[in-house]
Amino acid sequence: MTEKPTNQLKNYRPYNLVAELTYKCPLQCPYCSNPTNYGETFRDELSTEDWARVFREAAALGVMQVGLTGGEPGARRDLPQITKAAADAGLFSMLVTAGTVFTKDKLANLRDQGLDSAQLSVQDSDPKNSDFIAGVPSFDKKMAFASWCHELDLPLTLNVVLHRLNLDHIDDILAMAKEIGAHRLEMANTQYYAWALENREALLPSAEQLERARAAAKQAKADNPKMEVLFIIPDYYSDLPKPCMGGWGSQVILISPTGKVLPCHAAEVIPGMVFDNVRDKSLSDIWRHSESFNRFRGTDWMVEPCRSCDRREIDYGGCRCQALMLTGDAANADPTCHLSSHHGIIVEARDAANSVAANSDTANGGAATRPPPEMIYRTWPPRGPRKAGTEPAGVSAT
Ligand code: SF4
Ligand code: FES
Repeated sequence: MTEKPTNQLKNYRPYNLVAELTYKCPLQCPYCSNPTNYGETFRDELSTEDWARVFREAAALGVMQVGLTGGEPGARRDLPQITKAAADAGLFSMLVTAGTVFTKDKLANLRDQGLDSAQLSVQDSDPKNSDFIAGVPSFDKKMAFASWCHELDLPLTLNVVLHRLNLDHIDDILAMAKEIGAHRLEMANTQYYAWALENREALLPSAEQLERARAAAKQAKADNPKMEVLFIIPDYYSDLPKPCMGGWGSQVILISPTGKVLPCHAAEVIPGMVFDNVRDKSLSDIWRHSESFNRFRGTDWMVEPCRSCDRREIDYGGCRCQALMLTGDAANADPTCHLSSHHGIIVEARDAANSVAANSDTANGGAATRPPPEMIYRTWPPRGPRKAGTEPAGVSAT
């Protein structure tokens, strides 16, 4: 039994609920955080009523904010009812979207149902490259979505996932965010789980690209006091890990489209771990008592070097899923840590990225002129990954 004593559980409160409403998505991003086997479960999504109950249970547990996300949450016809259920439960809601399946009226309806804010993903400031990375034409629709947010007075976060193919455009990305009136610009470098790990070779930037971008973001923060600018470096270029999800089972609950309750996006990669479902148990029960949430809570589970490290209550050993994916054991220190005996894996990947950069067009600012041949995209309907250069497939809201 792995349940924590009640006095220890008081230290853990879920502030944020990530509601993955569906894995359907018209985009095909090669760094998607959805599981690579996302197609296996899509017919069994939670109902509107399930989500309404989950939101009430989450609010009772102390959750303040819900991200309505996916896949593409707009692919669910009942999104207005789900949005209203979040508002009725008293949760601050954010629509996390690629922005391509809405009209202005649909967005206005979501706002009228109680939607508090929107986060729009854009793949690049360059329309052609944005469409290339998304795998389908989508840039113009995204810009329309941004303008509707402005007209409807919906606070907008612009989210641009950064990597080798767009980092050199950072000045234009900053200008785009200003032009569309984003309240917040989130520029998180790709983290290499799920699809991104499959595409790491194609996406991992060079140190030089990263340094230029970091300096530009820093300057933008100083120049734009009205817009919040966030720049997150990739784990691979930091020798100290971040506390993934603020610590396992500590601040965040993620619910998959079929109702599995997870401590993070990638947790299902960890073999042997069973995740309870909101169809069978209450959220409170799962948060407090489940094997999965208690497995890596706090520091008792740690092995060396984390066990005796001064940072163990700062980063909680980094990311469990990254440790599993790169070292084969989720209890190991995240190999992005310089103290990990597996840190060489990270250094090797970084060296490879820098040597590719030195020999490619990206070194001369032509970021997308030479698409890496091995990059694969996720597709919908699920029918196996698609390689760059072959025909994209589309999807419409069901
Ligand atoms: Fe963090 Fe573990 Fe590395 Fe210490 S040894 S810095 S706790 S990952
Ligand atoms: Fe699972 Fe980091 S993604 S712990």
